Amino acid sequence: MKIDPWSSTTYQDYSRLRDEFGIQEFSENLWKDLPHPHKLLRRGIVFGHRGFELIQDAITHKNPWAILTGLMPSGKMHLGHKMVIDEVIYYQSIGADIFIAVADIEAFGTRGYTLKETEEMALHEYIPNYIALGLKPEKCRIYFQSKHQDVKDLAYILGKKVNWSQMVATYGFDGSANMAHIFSPLVQTGDILHVQLEKFGGVRPTLVPVGVDQDPHIRLSRDIAQAHRLYNVTVTKDKKIGVFVKVDTNVEKLLDNAEKILTTLNFNKLKRITDYKAIYINDATEEDIQKIDEHFCKAEFESGSYGFFQPSATFHRFITGLTGEKMSSSKPESAIFLTDSPEDARKKIMHAKTGGAVTLEEQKKHGGKPDDCMIYELFLYHLIEDDKELENIYKSCKAGEQMCGNCKKYAAECMEKLLQDIQDKRKAAEKKIDQYLV
Ligand code: TRP
Ligand code: SF4
Repeated sequence: MKIDPWSSTTYQDYSRLRDEFGIQEFSENLWKDLPHPHKLLRRGIVFGHRGFELIQDAITHKNPWAILTGLMPSGKMHLGHKMVIDEVIYYQSIGADIFIAVADIEAFGTRGYTLKETEEMALHEYIPNYIALGLKPEKCRIYFQSKHQDVKDLAYILGKKVNWSQMVATYGFDGSANMAHIFSPLVQTGDILHVQLEKFGGVRPTLVPVGVDQDPHIRLSRDIAQAHRLYNVTVTKDKKIGVFVKVDTNVEKLLDNAEKILTTLNFNKLKRITDYKAIYINDATEEDIQKIDEHFCKAEFESGSYGFFQPSATFHRFITGLTGEKMSSSKPESAIFLTDSPEDARKKIMHAKTGGAVTLEEQKKHGGKPDDCMIYELFLYHLIEDDKELENIYKSCKAGEQMCGNCKKYAAECMEKLLQDIQDKRKAAEKKIDQYLV
């Protein structure tokens, strides 16, 4: 099995996906102590992560951290696209620096749009919606890949540590892939890592909230970040904590510097073995690794190389389309667009697939199936904030007390409010775009 970020696959079994790709479970202990955790986190819609502990730690200790995500400006924005920005707005409210890439190079290289077309879609569709949904301009920049010289430079430079075999293994490219397409994952890596350059806030934990289809890019970015490090701070098989030099030039000098850093951190039981390019820290424990690594990252940047923190990521499930298939811009009846009129949205909801039984009698007797119901998904992902209220719907549906007609009406009402609110705000939003763009 392969995850292809450019295909339109739908995923069914998220826990299998998680296990197969070594994604960690986004368990309760990761989010329960965050300030007012967002419903997408609480409800298991964000189901997996890589390296979220770094973010949790930064939030707990009030250290700086960043969010970087991207939007693919292709077609109209629907509820499926809304999830990432809901997460971003939440993280902004708890103190993250926000960076949003408009993936115009990727849309050009992989989907055949011109840069002009993607610009139109970003400026008139996505960004106004983001603002209408509540994204604030403070500590927030939105930029176009094609116009960001630092990102493009970094993409090229980072490419030095990736070879063709790795690209084939990760993406399944073959001889017919065009070079713009092949290069686009490196641009995405440039997006993800550029926020750690001095100019953009320096080395710090960075979270990339995305749909699980983006995991290949996350793996690539994490590998590349690691590959550019000079030091590896880790625990060995026989449980010793060590700092290892990863390169073959200037080893002596790098070990000298490592010793200095460790001494200033108050580690004194150091054992240097130059042949192994190693310093063992006998008075450190596994809990110290992160802190030590942080100092080495910074020192590496100061010495003119890249000491990137490995970027963290969270992965969310995709909302199902109203018809029961994938929610997709190319099938308008499957999707609710943020620009749909409240009346159109109501009609789509009234036609949506539910988990109701064939007859009312039967539903009263055996109950409905909220787990297979698109209306319930709308509540779960977008329409109901209060967990108790959601639980009541779930239970009364299963008990056969709640009937689909009423349920749809309620969903339509909530959706009308949501869309009306976005539409009222979008007009003002168009005028504010400049405050967000770099
Ligand atoms: N590839 C993403 C998509 O298809 C868009 C994107 C570009 C992105 N750069 C990014 C996502 C950086 C996360 C981080 O939607
Ligand atoms: Fe879905 Fe509501 Fe019908 Fe239950 S009662 S199946 S939640 S529409």
